[in-house]
Amino acid sequence: MSSRKRSKTNTNSAAGLMSSPTAGNADGIPGEFERAGQAADFIHARTELRPEIALVLGSGLGAFADEFADATKIPYAEIPYFPRSTAIGHAGQLVVGKVGEIPVAGMQGRVHLYEGYSVKEVVFPIRVFARMGVKAVILTNAAGGIKREFSQGRLVVISDHINLQGVNPLTGPNDERFGLRFHDMTAAYDRRFREMAVGEGNRMGIGIYEGVYAALPGPSYETPAEIRYLRAIGADLVGMSTVPEVIAARHSGIRVLGISCVTNAAAGILDQPLNHVEVLETAERVKEQFIGLLKAVIPRMAEAIR
Ligand code: HPA
Repeated sequence: MSSRKRSKTNTNSAAGLMSSPTAGNADGIPGEFERAGQAADFIHARTELRPEIALVLGSGLGAFADEFADATKIPYAEIPYFPRSTAIGHAGQLVVGKVGEIPVAGMQGRVHLYEGYSVKEVVFPIRVFARMGVKAVILTNAAGGIKREFSQGRLVVISDHINLQGVNPLTGPNDERFGLRFHDMTAAYDRRFREMAVGEGNRMGIGIYEGVYAALPGPSYETPAEIRYLRAIGADLVGMSTVPEVIAARHSGIRVLGISCVTNAAAGILDQPLNHVEVLETAERVKEQFIGLLKAVIPRMAEAIR
């Protein structure tokens, strides 16, 4: 691990220890399960709320957590072993609070592979949610639209994914306390949650679609040739996040809803270059609609996981 990387990491984190994903080693160094348990205990000690739904709020959407009632805000830097977000548009704190009557935990920003984090670090928050007793997670992101109908500003419910990031968070020894060595990904994106999100979106009159999300490592955007390739293999959306979190969540038995905001047409679809400012501006423009959808879906999900 480089010194640059270490400087981003918690002073109390196991900076050099992330290579041990399972139970602690002979020196008593905690494994992933124990580290996640410590982080979960730390969060539980800060609030009386016991959320069973967690949200990962991607680019621009972090504002939703500012609306939570009875909120406790915990900077990632204070949570044992938690990675810190360096991406623009990501506040880097966990907000535990209520949406209506439902306790939720919302991450204002995530960490990405392109920031230099390992895939284990990227999914650590999901492991913490598992140890907190979270049953369902809503993963949101900004994505490029590959399918023609997925124009700028559309919200798309993720129906499935294609992992092209070249890594998997479950590589290495398996800790059975989280889940199985070879776990099923047939219905990774919960069918009932998807129906709820599409249903609520339609009720709100926002004409929501479903699509397949392809994850690349980034941080460069794709070339037009790569987008043609992605379309040919069945991808409708492209982005740089979410997939490792889905894999870890399903491994831990957490049900998943994934929603993308199409912030731009993917490379080569329009005759113009891509830029991050456009991505952030679109996410900002669609924010209220996105938050409205989440507010409508959360109570229905809460009912479904009871
Ligand atoms: N490609 C990859 N990631 C993205 C894009 C894109 O076009 N837009 C937002 N995130």
